[in-house]
Amino acid sequence: MTILVLHGPNLNLLGTREPEVYGSTTLAEIDADLMKIAADRGVKLNSFQSNHEGALIDRVQAARDDGTRYIVINPGGYTHTSVALRDALAAVALPFVEVHLSNVHKREDFRRHSYFSELADGVICGLGATGYRLALLYALERLAPPGQ
Ligand code: DQA
Repeated sequence: MTILVLHGPNLNLLGTREPEVYGSTTLAEIDADLMKIAADRGVKLNSFQSNHEGALIDRVQAARDDGTRYIVINPGGYTHTSVALRDALAAVALPFVEVHLSNVHKREDFRRHSYFSELADGVICGLGATGYRLALLYALERLAPPGQ
């Protein structure tokens, strides 16, 4: 059983990128934290970051055949622009949670619209790196509900 974590453009710069907005935790630290939580539950976690829309789409398409059962995605700026990445998620029909480190609702107006939210199981925003952890815990619970 595999969970895929996808990080969109500019998230490779976490730690130094507008830390007052996105916090000071690096992407490597976020991934290490998620890997540990998943490993403790015996679940494999794959993480992928790209600054390129097509690469993210290719990775989503690959998830159809690589054992991925759930996706946690922060589409970064593509959240507000990418019909194509949204279509890829719809095509593979894998359940996903949408995560944003910042509270997109208390920023510029253009960040309030997401092409992903209406397909997502849920959306977490404004909780920084903790949001990823909560999304992963949700995915783990969805895949192996307690008591089953
Ligand atoms: C973001 C919010 C987006 O509006 C922005 O373009 C990002 C990061 C977040 O995690 O808060 O790159 O997805």
